[in-house]
Amino acid sequence: MANVLLGVTGSVAAYRAADLARDLMREGHAVRVLLTRSAAQFVTPSLFEALTGQPCLVDTFEEPEPGRMAHIDWARWADVAVLAPATADSIVRLAQGRAEDMLGSSLLASTAPWVVAPAMNPQMYASDAVREAMSKLRARAAAIVEPTEGDVACGENGQGKLASIGAIAETVESVLVRCRLWEGCKVLVTSGPTREPLDSVRYLSNRSSGKMGSAVARAGLLMGAYVTVVAGPQSEPLPLGVKEVRVETAQQMLDAALAEAPGSHLIIGVAAVADHRPAVVFDGKRKRDGAYSLELEENPDVIAALAAAEPQALTVAFAAEVGEGTKEARRKLESKGVDAVALNYVAAIGQGMDADRNALTWVTDGSEEGSGPMSKLACALWLLEKAFNIRNTG
Ligand code: CTP
Repeated sequence: MANVLLGVTGSVAAYRAADLARDLMREGHAVRVLLTRSAAQFVTPSLFEALTGQPCLVDTFEEPEPGRMAHIDWARWADVAVLAPATADSIVRLAQGRAEDMLGSSLLASTAPWVVAPAMNPQMYASDAVREAMSKLRARAAAIVEPTEGDVACGENGQGKLASIGAIAETVESVLVRCRLWEGCKVLVTSGPTREPLDSVRYLSNRSSGKMGSAVARAGLLMGAYVTVVAGPQSEPLPLGVKEVRVETAQQMLDAALAEAPGSHLIIGVAAVADHRPAVVFDGKRKRDGAYSLELEENPDVIAALAAAEPQALTVAFAAEVGEGTKEARRKLESKGVDAVALNYVAAIGQGMDADRNALTWVTDGSEEGSGPMSKLACALWLLEKAFNIRNTG
């Protein structure tokens, strides 16, 4: 059973949050309610206090326990944060990370996953500002319970009615299941590019930004895992809460990953490891001296070595392909000895290296399945769910 922080904002549908609180409590969850000032125009704190047996807070400076900061306390307490109904204003403020009331600061201070159930006038829901804010929330892995079509309180008809309480409660349950899939497990991720030195100032590398590796690490944290990331020099920051091991070359990545691997339940090779390195590294800075040829030697295959060293772990490799990819992904499945390959088409516009979105195909021995285009974080959560399913069904 879980701790649910329920944020209620100023919509006519605010009264339905009382039923939601009751339903969640019937499922055995503890519920604490935060109201915005506008929500308090429609429903009162005493209603929710009577229903939940817990204080219901509105003002940032309301402290039910002297000496403790409620917005931090409640943020830490929550296993999931639900915003229902969510007005246009609350959605835009949440997307901007504004913390000007108790609800805003508690949500910002919480690492719990968000469930957002919008309710508003259909034109407002269709507006650019709300759409933009919604896509930011989706990119941060918020589960959105889409409003339904119908007559709304202002007399218009369209998409804007708060979803059914059953649908919101069901989404809360599925988010709670998902955020425990890898609870207590050890997940190792390789991420970013490697740099293979040519001389003391130059190197061979690639365009990997580390965005997908960071997303996989974040998804692991959101699903309750202890996450270690062995990362090359990537521009994308790693999420707070992971164990971060920084390396430069493929050989260093191999050594660091092998040292971190023992006891891992899941190992994911997201790094774009350089397959080759200069056979000889020039001592100092090479002077311009006409054309020259470079001899390259092969780098170790990090994910293949990890799969061989940790046979108890579930191992996943990425395959960055430009053409017909599944045949190649199956070849990698075999040659690297991994349990699954996450195939992505790097030539697709807006997907792959350095993009914010991706689309994966999950390839295993007997099956393949596509995620469809999504934010990298959504792809990462999808991938970790697929990995969990193999682990449990064998
Ligand atoms: N990988 C690795 N060590 C290497 C090379 C790749 O761990 N030296 C891992 C990557 O992290 C990724 C997968 O293997 O999980 C990618 O495989 P790779 O054979 O390099 O394929 P691509 O780079 O996708 O494509 P290509 O074979 O065309 O180079």
